[in-house]
Amino acid sequence: MNPLLQTLHSRTSVRKYTDRPLSNEELETLIKAGMAAPTAGNKQPWAFLVITEKETLKALADCLPYAGFTKDAPAAIVVCGDPKKGFQGEEEPLWIQDCSAATENILIACEAMGLGATWTAVHPLAEREESVRKILGIPGGVIPFNVIPVGEPAHRPKPKEKWNPDNLHWERWGS
Ligand SMILES: Cc1cc2nc3c(=O)[nH]c(=O)nc-3n(C[C@H](O)[C@H](O)[C@H](O)COP(=O)(O)O)c2cc1C
Repeated sequence: MNPLLQTLHSRTSVRKYTDRPLSNEELETLIKAGMAAPTAGNKQPWAFLVITEKETLKALADCLPYAGFTKDAPAAIVVCGDPKKGFQGEEEPLWIQDCSAATENILIACEAMGLGATWTAVHPLAEREESVRKILGIPGGVIPFNVIPVGEPAHRPKPKEKWNPDNLHWERWGS
């Protein structure tokens, strides 16, 4: 199989990490992968925060109900939307797709680099957004979109089988 497709299909959420710290080079490579994503009108309405301080990782874990494992990760990437850099009016919510595309690129880059990560939800949960904003000093108008704990995997979960021909239609719905 094409190596990129192989990486895409072997990616799975990883929630246990070894203690090995990630280098700045590794972390920057992940952010570069995120920034390579397509965005509506190429507006790149985003910002990325890289967190490596234990205390901050723990604070994030404590305020996100399904991201407790962030406290044991050597690093986390917080993808933020910055809608004022993007389209305005009815097209403004396109920043959400843009940040999703960046996130998926980061997850696939992790897999390609032998790292493990999980997308953990922040936006659109107002309470989670507020907590993350406060911990990281994110300015008003910039929206914390998700937190991606990342590290060297301490286990290798099997990728889930997701291929389902019922969800595929050729040419017209129902065929
Ligand atoms: C929008 C979104 C929000 C998610 N939020 C969480 C989360 O808060 N905590 C978590 O452990 N996993 C979270 N996940 C990861 C999913 O549980 C995971 O992707 C899904 O079970 C499929 O498994 P896979 O990533 O191994 O293919 C989230 C994924 C997405 C796309």
